[in-house]
Amino acid sequence: MKAIVLRELGDPDKLVLESVPDPDPGPGGAVVRIRAAALNHRDAWIRRGQYAGIRLPIVLGSDGAGEVVAVGAGVDERLVGQSVVINPSLDWGTDDRAQGPAYHILGLPDDGTYAELVRVPAANLCPKPGSLSSEAAAAIPLAGLTAYRALVTRARLQAGETVLVTGIGGGVSTFALLFARHLGARVVVTSGSDSKLERARALGADGGVNYKSEGWGKAAQAMCQGGPDVIIDSAGRDAFPTLLEIIKPGGRLVTFGATTGSTATVEVRRIFWKQIAILGSTMGTPREFGDMLTFFAQGGVTPVVDQVFPLADAAGAHRRMDQAGQFGKIVLSVGV
Ligand SMILES: NC(=O)c1ccc[n+]([C@@H]2O[C@H](COP(=O)([O-])OP(=O)(O)OC[C@H]3O[C@@H](n4cnc5c(N)ncnc54)[C@H](OP(=O)(O)O)[C@@H]3O)[C@@H](O)[C@H]2O)c1
Repeated sequence: MKAIVLRELGDPDKLVLESVPDPDPGPGGAVVRIRAAALNHRDAWIRRGQYAGIRLPIVLGSDGAGEVVAVGAGVDERLVGQSVVINPSLDWGTDDRAQGPAYHILGLPDDGTYAELVRVPAANLCPKPGSLSSEAAAAIPLAGLTAYRALVTRARLQAGETVLVTGIGGGVSTFALLFARHLGARVVVTSGSDSKLERARALGADGGVNYKSEGWGKAAQAMCQGGPDVIIDSAGRDAFPTLLEIIKPGGRLVTFGATTGSTATVEVRRIFWKQIAILGSTMGTPREFGDMLTFFAQGGVTPVVDQVFPLADAAGAHRRMDQAGQFGKIVLSVGV
Protein backbone atom coordinates (compact mmCIF):
# COMPACT_ATOMS: atom_id res chain seq x y z
CA MET A 1 0.00 0.00 0.00
CA LYS A 2 0.92 3.67 -0.23
CA ALA A 3 1.43 5.70 2.93
CA ILE A 4 2.97 8.98 4.02
CA VAL A 5 6.01 7.98 6.03
CA LEU A 6 7.81 10.37 8.37
CA ARG A 7 11.44 9.19 8.64
CA GLU A 8 13.00 12.44 9.82
CA LEU A 9 11.63 15.27 11.97
CA GLY A 10 11.33 18.75 10.52
CA ASP A 11 9.47 20.72 7.88
CA PRO A 12 6.36 19.47 6.05
CA ASP A 13 8.52 18.22 3.17
CA LYS A 14 9.62 15.37 5.45
CA LEU A 15 6.18 13.83 4.78
CA VAL A 16 6.88 11.52 1.85
CA LEU A 17 4.62 9.09 -0.03
CA GLU A 18 6.10 5.59 -0.06
CA SER A 19 5.14 2.00 -0.78
CA VAL A 20 5.05 0.00 2.46
CA PRO A 21 3.78 -3.49 3.39
CA ASP A 22 0.04 -3.90 3.94
CA PRO A 23 -0.88 -4.17 7.63
CA ASP A 24 -2.23 -7.41 9.09
CA PRO A 25 -5.41 -7.21 11.22
CA GLY A 26 -4.01 -9.43 13.99
CA PRO A 27 -6.13 -10.85 16.84
CA GLY A 28 -8.98 -8.51 17.75
CA GLY A 29 -8.02 -6.13 14.96
CA ALA A 30 -9.37 -4.92 11.65
CA VAL A 31 -7.86 -3.37 8.56
CA VAL A 32 -9.67 -0.33 7.18
CA ARG A 33 -9.26 0.94 3.61
CA ILE A 34 -9.02 4.65 4.26
CA ARG A 35 -11.12 6.91 2.01
CA ALA A 36 -10.27 10.11 3.87
CA ALA A 37 -8.02 11.08 6.77
CA ALA A 38 -7.70 14.39 8.63
CA LEU A 39 -5.01 16.44 10.30
CA ASN A 40 -4.76 17.38 13.95
CA HIS A 41 -2.32 19.77 15.56
CA ARG A 42 -0.79 16.72 17.24
CA ASP A 43 0.53 15.59 13.84
CA ALA A 44 2.36 18.91 13.44
CA TRP A 45 3.78 18.73 16.99
CA ILE A 46 5.08 15.21 16.23
CA ARG A 47 6.51 16.18 12.82
CA ARG A 48 8.45 19.03 14.47
CA GLY A 49 9.70 16.78 17.29
CA GLN A 50 7.65 18.60 19.96
CA TYR A 51 5.75 15.58 21.27
CA ALA A 52 6.54 12.90 23.84
CA GLY A 53 7.45 9.35 22.86
CA ILE A 54 8.27 9.92 19.18
CA ARG A 55 9.43 6.88 17.23
CA LEU A 56 10.53 6.93 13.62
CA PRO A 57 9.63 5.97 11.01
CA ILE A 58 5.95 6.62 11.68
CA VAL A 59 2.78 6.96 9.63
CA LEU A 60 0.96 9.91 11.21
CA GLY A 61 -2.79 10.41 11.39
CA SER A 62 -5.45 9.84 14.04
CA ASP A 63 -8.56 10.47 11.97
CA GLY A 64 -9.92 8.23 9.30
CA ALA A 65 -13.07 6.99 7.57
CA GLY A 66 -13.33 4.10 5.15
CA GLU A 67 -14.38 0.47 4.71
CA VAL A 68 -13.30 -2.60 6.64
CA VAL A 69 -11.40 -4.97 4.33
CA ALA A 70 -10.14 -7.63 6.76
CA VAL A 71 -10.64 -8.72 10.35
CA GLY A 72 -8.47 -10.80 12.66
CA ALA A 73 -9.17 -13.69 14.99
CA GLY A 74 -12.03 -13.12 17.40
CA VAL A 75 -13.68 -10.38 15.31
CA ASP A 76 -17.12 -10.74 13.71
CA GLU A 77 -16.58 -11.25 9.97
CA ARG A 78 -19.78 -9.29 9.20
CA LEU A 79 -17.71 -6.17 9.86
CA VAL A 80 -16.00 -6.65 6.50
CA GLY A 81 -17.43 -4.25 3.91
CA GLN A 82 -18.93 -1.84 6.47
CA SER A 83 -18.35 1.91 6.27
CA VAL A 84 -16.76 3.09 9.48
CA VAL A 85 -15.14 5.95 11.34
CA ILE A 86 -12.24 5.19 13.63
CA ASN A 87 -12.14 6.15 17.31
CA PRO A 88 -8.45 7.12 17.72
CA SER A 89 -8.60 6.92 21.53
CA LEU A 90 -6.90 3.54 22.11
CA ASP A 91 -6.98 1.58 25.40
CA TRP A 92 -8.66 4.31 27.45
CA GLY A 93 -8.94 1.95 30.45
CA THR A 94 -11.68 1.38 33.00
CA ASP A 95 -12.05 4.78 34.69
CA ASP A 96 -14.25 7.33 32.91
CA ARG A 97 -12.59 10.15 34.89
CA ALA A 98 -9.18 9.75 33.24
CA GLN A 99 -7.33 7.51 30.81
CA GLY A 100 -5.24 4.64 32.18
CA PRO A 101 -1.51 3.96 31.80
CA ALA A 102 -1.88 1.95 28.55
CA TYR A 103 -3.70 4.84 26.85
CA HIS A 104 -2.42 6.01 23.48
CA ILE A 105 -3.67 7.76 20.38
CA LEU A 106 -3.71 6.31 16.87
CA GLY A 107 -0.85 7.74 14.80
CA LEU A 108 1.94 7.34 17.41
CA PRO A 109 3.23 4.89 18.47
CA ASP A 110 0.90 2.83 16.21
CA ASP A 111 0.95 3.73 12.51
CA GLY A 112 -1.97 5.97 11.62
CA THR A 113 -4.32 7.01 8.87
CA TYR A 114 -2.17 8.92 6.34
CA ALA A 115 -2.28 5.65 4.41
CA GLU A 116 -4.39 3.54 2.11
CA LEU A 117 -4.78 0.90 4.85
CA VAL A 118 -4.63 1.10 8.63
CA ARG A 119 -4.79 -1.54 11.35
CA VAL A 120 -6.94 -0.69 14.39
CA PRO A 121 -8.62 -2.64 17.20
CA ALA A 122 -12.05 -3.67 15.91
CA ALA A 123 -13.58 -2.25 19.10
CA ASN A 124 -12.53 1.22 17.91
CA LEU A 125 -14.73 1.12 14.81
CA CYS A 126 -18.12 2.84 14.68
CA PRO A 127 -20.60 2.99 11.79
CA LYS A 128 -20.08 6.07 9.64
CA PRO A 129 -23.06 8.44 9.97
CA GLY A 130 -24.82 7.65 6.67
CA SER A 131 -25.50 11.21 5.62
CA LEU A 132 -21.85 12.27 5.70
CA SER A 133 -19.25 12.05 2.94
CA SER A 134 -15.99 10.24 3.74
CA GLU A 135 -14.25 13.64 3.98
CA ALA A 136 -16.80 15.00 6.46
CA ALA A 137 -16.75 11.78 8.52
CA ALA A 138 -12.94 11.73 8.63
CA ALA A 139 -12.98 15.26 10.01
CA ILE A 140 -14.82 14.19 13.14
CA PRO A 141 -12.96 11.69 15.36
CA LEU A 142 -10.17 13.30 17.41
CA ALA A 143 -11.44 16.87 17.36
CA GLY A 144 -15.11 15.96 17.77
CA LEU A 145 -14.35 13.67 20.70
CA THR A 146 -12.20 16.30 22.42
CA ALA A 147 -14.82 19.02 21.98
CA TYR A 148 -17.60 16.70 23.19
CA ARG A 149 -15.88 15.67 26.41
CA ALA A 150 -14.78 19.24 27.14
CA LEU A 151 -18.27 20.70 26.72
CA VAL A 152 -20.60 17.92 27.76
CA THR A 153 -18.77 15.77 30.31
CA ARG A 154 -16.39 18.28 31.86
CA ALA A 155 -18.19 21.65 31.62
CA ARG A 156 -21.70 20.15 31.80
CA LEU A 157 -22.87 22.90 29.49
CA GLN A 158 -26.53 23.87 29.90
CA ALA A 159 -28.88 25.40 27.34
CA GLY A 160 -29.01 29.17 27.73
CA GLU A 161 -25.45 29.46 29.09
CA THR A 162 -22.79 31.49 27.31
CA VAL A 163 -19.60 29.76 26.13
CA LEU A 164 -16.40 31.45 25.02
CA VAL A 165 -14.38 29.33 22.56
CA THR A 166 -10.83 30.56 21.89
CA GLY A 167 -9.02 30.26 18.53
CA ILE A 168 -12.12 29.39 16.51
CA GLY A 169 -10.16 28.51 13.39
CA GLY A 170 -8.89 25.37 15.13
CA GLY A 171 -10.34 21.94 14.39
CA VAL A 172 -11.51 21.23 17.96
CA SER A 173 -12.79 24.77 18.40
CA THR A 174 -15.08 24.59 15.38
CA PHE A 175 -16.64 21.40 16.79
CA ALA A 176 -17.03 23.14 20.16
CA LEU A 177 -18.95 25.93 18.41
CA LEU A 178 -21.20 23.49 16.53
CA PHE A 179 -21.91 21.33 19.61
CA ALA A 180 -22.53 24.29 21.92
CA ARG A 181 -25.06 25.75 19.47
CA HIS A 182 -26.64 22.30 19.08
CA LEU A 183 -27.04 22.18 22.88
CA GLY A 184 -28.75 25.58 22.96
CA ALA A 185 -25.92 27.71 24.34
CA ARG A 186 -24.86 31.20 23.25
CA VAL A 187 -21.36 31.18 21.79
CA VAL A 188 -18.75 33.92 21.61
CA VAL A 189 -15.43 33.16 19.91
CA THR A 190 -11.93 34.57 19.54
CA SER A 191 -9.64 34.37 16.54
CA GLY A 192 -6.53 36.06 15.18
CA SER A 193 -8.37 36.56 11.89
CA ASP A 194 -11.39 38.80 11.25
CA SER A 195 -12.48 36.67 8.32
CA LYS A 196 -12.58 33.59 10.59
CA LEU A 197 -14.74 35.56 13.04
CA GLU A 198 -17.13 36.22 10.16
CA ARG A 199 -17.22 32.55 9.25
CA ALA A 200 -17.93 31.66 12.88
CA ARG A 201 -20.88 34.08 12.91
CA ALA A 202 -22.21 32.37 9.79
CA LEU A 203 -22.05 29.07 11.71
CA GLY A 204 -24.10 30.48 14.58
CA ALA A 205 -21.63 32.29 16.85
CA ASP A 206 -23.29 35.23 18.60
CA GLY A 207 -20.16 37.35 18.51
CA GLY A 208 -16.41 37.30 18.05
CA VAL A 209 -13.29 39.20 19.06
CA ASN A 210 -9.86 39.31 17.44
CA TYR A 211 -7.33 38.25 20.12
CA LYS A 212 -4.69 40.36 18.40
CA SER A 213 -6.64 43.54 19.22
CA GLU A 214 -5.96 45.63 22.35
CA GLY A 215 -8.46 44.88 25.12
CA TRP A 216 -9.84 41.73 23.49
CA GLY A 217 -10.68 40.25 26.88
CA LYS A 218 -12.95 43.12 27.96
CA ALA A 219 -14.63 43.10 24.54
CA ALA A 220 -15.29 39.35 24.83
CA GLN A 221 -16.59 39.80 28.38
CA ALA A 222 -19.04 42.47 27.22
CA MET A 223 -20.23 40.25 24.36
CA CYS A 224 -20.85 37.51 26.89
CA GLN A 225 -23.03 39.92 28.89
CA GLY A 226 -20.94 40.00 32.04
CA GLY A 227 -18.61 37.13 31.17
CA PRO A 228 -18.80 33.57 29.91
CA ASP A 229 -20.28 30.81 32.07
CA VAL A 230 -17.97 28.34 30.33
CA ILE A 231 -14.67 28.79 28.49
CA ILE A 232 -13.23 26.16 26.13
CA ASP A 233 -9.55 26.99 25.66
CA SER A 234 -6.61 25.50 23.84
CA ALA A 235 -4.51 28.65 23.46
CA GLY A 236 -2.87 28.22 26.88
CA ARG A 237 -0.20 30.72 27.91
CA ASP A 238 -1.23 33.80 25.93
CA ALA A 239 -4.91 33.61 26.82
CA PHE A 240 -5.09 32.05 30.30
CA PRO A 241 -4.51 35.13 32.52
CA THR A 242 -7.13 37.11 30.58
CA LEU A 243 -9.60 34.21 30.66
CA LEU A 244 -9.42 34.12 34.46
CA GLU A 245 -10.16 37.86 34.51
CA ILE A 246 -13.23 37.71 32.29
CA ILE A 247 -14.97 34.46 33.28
CA LYS A 248 -18.15 34.87 35.32
CA PRO A 249 -17.96 34.10 39.06
CA GLY A 250 -18.68 30.40 39.44
CA GLY A 251 -17.64 29.76 35.83
CA ARG A 252 -15.97 26.63 34.42
CA LEU A 253 -12.80 26.96 32.38
CA VAL A 254 -11.95 23.83 30.40
CA THR A 255 -8.38 23.61 29.11
CA PHE A 256 -7.47 20.97 26.54
CA GLY A 257 -4.41 22.45 24.82
CA ALA A 258 -1.53 24.89 24.96
CA THR A 259 -0.94 26.06 21.40
CA THR A 260 0.80 29.28 22.49
CA GLY A 261 2.77 27.69 25.34
CA SER A 262 2.19 25.62 28.44
CA THR A 263 3.56 27.87 31.19
CA ALA A 264 1.35 30.79 32.22
CA THR A 265 1.51 33.23 35.12
CA VAL A 266 -1.91 33.50 36.72
CA GLU A 267 -3.38 35.34 39.67
CA VAL A 268 -4.39 32.50 41.97
CA ARG A 269 -6.58 34.94 43.93
CA ARG A 270 -8.93 35.20 40.97
CA ILE A 271 -9.48 31.45 40.95
CA PHE A 272 -10.58 31.15 44.57
CA TRP A 273 -12.34 34.51 44.93
CA LYS A 274 -14.41 33.98 41.78
CA GLN A 275 -15.00 30.29 42.64
CA ILE A 276 -13.71 29.26 39.21
CA ALA A 277 -13.53 25.56 38.32
CA ILE A 278 -10.52 24.81 36.13
CA LEU A 279 -11.09 21.51 34.35
CA GLY A 280 -8.51 19.64 32.31
CA SER A 281 -9.79 17.53 29.44
CA THR A 282 -8.16 15.12 27.01
CA MET A 283 -9.80 13.12 24.21
CA GLY A 284 -12.57 10.89 25.63
CA THR A 285 -13.98 7.46 26.43
CA PRO A 286 -15.50 4.97 23.96
CA ARG A 287 -18.96 5.86 25.32
CA GLU A 288 -18.35 9.55 24.71
CA PHE A 289 -17.22 8.77 21.15
CA GLY A 290 -20.48 6.92 20.45
CA ASP A 291 -22.59 9.65 22.07
CA MET A 292 -20.76 12.33 20.10
CA LEU A 293 -21.46 10.54 16.79
CA THR A 294 -25.21 10.63 17.48
CA PHE A 295 -25.07 14.43 17.01
CA PHE A 296 -24.16 13.75 13.39
CA ALA A 297 -26.35 10.68 12.88
CA GLN A 298 -29.41 12.66 14.07
CA GLY A 299 -28.61 15.44 11.61
CA GLY A 300 -28.36 19.11 12.47
CA VAL A 301 -24.57 19.11 12.93
CA THR A 302 -22.20 19.05 9.95
CA PRO A 303 -18.40 19.02 10.35
CA VAL A 304 -16.56 22.05 9.00
CA VAL A 305 -14.11 20.85 6.35
CA ASP A 306 -11.58 23.55 5.54
CA GLN A 307 -9.78 22.11 2.52
CA VAL A 308 -9.19 18.64 1.03
CA PHE A 309 -5.68 17.71 -0.15
CA PRO A 310 -4.70 14.48 -1.94
CA LEU A 311 -2.79 12.06 0.30
CA ALA A 312 0.35 12.61 -1.78
CA ASP A 313 0.27 16.31 -0.78
CA ALA A 314 0.21 15.77 2.99
CA ALA A 315 3.09 18.28 3.06
CA GLY A 316 0.82 20.97 1.58
CA ALA A 317 -1.84 20.16 4.15
CA HIS A 318 0.74 20.52 6.96
CA ARG A 319 1.93 23.84 5.58
CA ARG A 320 -1.62 25.13 5.81
CA MET A 321 -1.81 24.05 9.47
CA ASP A 322 1.62 25.54 10.26
CA GLN A 323 0.36 28.90 8.94
CA ALA A 324 -2.93 28.54 10.93
CA GLY A 325 -4.61 29.10 7.56
CA GLN A 326 -7.48 26.75 8.27
CA PHE A 327 -11.01 27.24 9.44
CA GLY A 328 -12.09 23.79 10.58
CA LYS A 329 -10.54 20.51 9.56
CA ILE A 330 -7.87 19.94 6.93
CA VAL A 331 -8.64 16.64 5.21
CA LEU A 332 -6.62 14.20 3.08
CA SER A 333 -8.42 12.35 0.34
CA VAL A 334 -7.11 8.80 -0.04
CA GLY A 335 -7.55 6.52 -3.09
CA VAL A 336 -10.64 6.70 -5.29
N1 LIG B 1 -5.96 17.35 25.09
C1 LIG B 1 -6.47 16.85 23.96
O1 LIG B 1 -7.09 15.81 23.94
C2 LIG B 1 -6.31 17.60 22.69
C3 LIG B 1 -7.04 17.21 21.58
C4 LIG B 1 -6.94 17.94 20.41
C5 LIG B 1 -6.10 19.05 20.36
N2 LIG B 1 -5.36 19.38 21.46
C6 LIG B 1 -4.51 20.58 21.42
O2 LIG B 1 -5.38 21.67 21.23
C7 LIG B 1 -4.79 22.62 20.36
C8 LIG B 1 -5.70 22.82 19.16
O3 LIG B 1 -5.68 21.64 18.38
P1 LIG B 1 -6.32 21.60 16.92
O4 LIG B 1 -5.98 20.30 16.31
O5 LIG B 1 -7.74 22.03 16.98
O6 LIG B 1 -5.38 22.72 16.23
P2 LIG B 1 -5.50 23.61 14.97
O7 LIG B 1 -6.64 23.15 14.11
O8 LIG B 1 -4.14 23.73 14.37
O9 LIG B 1 -5.88 25.02 15.62
C9 LIG B 1 -4.97 25.83 16.31
C10 LIG B 1 -5.64 27.16 16.45
O10 LIG B 1 -5.00 27.85 17.55
C11 LIG B 1 -5.47 29.15 17.50
N3 LIG B 1 -4.57 30.09 18.17
C12 LIG B 1 -3.30 30.38 17.88
N4 LIG B 1 -2.85 31.35 18.71
C13 LIG B 1 -3.87 31.67 19.55
C14 LIG B 1 -4.05 32.62 20.61
N5 LIG B 1 -3.07 33.45 21.00
N6 LIG B 1 -5.24 32.68 21.24
C15 LIG B 1 -6.25 31.87 20.86
N7 LIG B 1 -6.14 30.98 19.86
C16 LIG B 1 -4.97 30.87 19.21
C17 LIG B 1 -5.64 29.49 16.02
O11 LIG B 1 -6.95 29.98 15.90
P3 LIG B 1 -7.32 31.17 14.87
O12 LIG B 1 -6.84 30.67 13.56
O13 LIG B 1 -8.80 31.31 14.97
O14 LIG B 1 -6.59 32.40 15.33
C18 LIG B 1 -5.45 28.12 15.31
O15 LIG B 1 -6.36 27.90 14.30
C19 LIG B 1 -3.39 22.09 20.03
O16 LIG B 1 -2.48 22.66 20.93
C20 LIG B 1 -3.54 20.61 20.27
O17 LIG B 1 -2.30 20.00 20.58
C21 LIG B 1 -5.46 18.69 22.62
